[in-house]
Amino acid sequence: MQVVLILHNILRWGVVFFGVWTVLNALTGLIGKRNYSSADNVSNLLFMIFCDIQLLVGLILFFTNSWFDKVKSGMGAVMKNSYDRFFTVEHAGMMILAWILVHIGRASVKKAPTSSAKHKKMLIFFGLGLLIILISIPWPFRQEVARPLLRWYN
Ligand code: HEM
Repeated sequence: MQVVLILHNILRWGVVFFGVWTVLNALTGLIGKRNYSSADNVSNLLFMIFCDIQLLVGLILFFTNSWFDKVKSGMGAVMKNSYDRFFTVEHAGMMILAWILVHIGRASVKKAPTSSAKHKKMLIFFGLGLLIILISIPWPFRQEVARPLLRWYN
């Protein structure tokens, strides 16, 4: 499972990079009143693709790395332990919520009739999705759930 964990760790940087690029595009598009461009489309498409892959890898970790066994043994004990609660409930739940927002965002950006409407939808849905992702990552400074910025075999 070490290789899947390494993948999940590294892919996080793709999610964050394309998320930030998408939000910056939305902001510059709105402020500069420019047309919705192929860079806008590519940035939010790649943000969505990285979120899709990350969700898949996260689910593999959840079901194969003892987390699901803990849930099966009883949610009472999981909820009492802040470390277990973080990874099984808070991290997984919030990331799935962000993934849903990113998908709704992509569909509503496509449907929006004008460039300005597209940039607004981009900012709202992808901005909110990125915010949820950023606050749900187990950054090294989050004492109880801290994980490394990069991981390799050890
Ligand atoms: C954009 C979405 C996501 C991001 C950016 C993300 C990011 C991360 C990061 C950085 C870690 C720490 C990795 C390490 O220790 O090196 C982690 C751990 C974990 N993630 Fe995610 N994650 C996402 C989505 C998900 C989802 C949807 C699930 C499950 C449904 C999930 C389940 C887990 C689990 C179970 C762990 C702990 C793995 C272990 O130590 O066994 N993640 N995640």
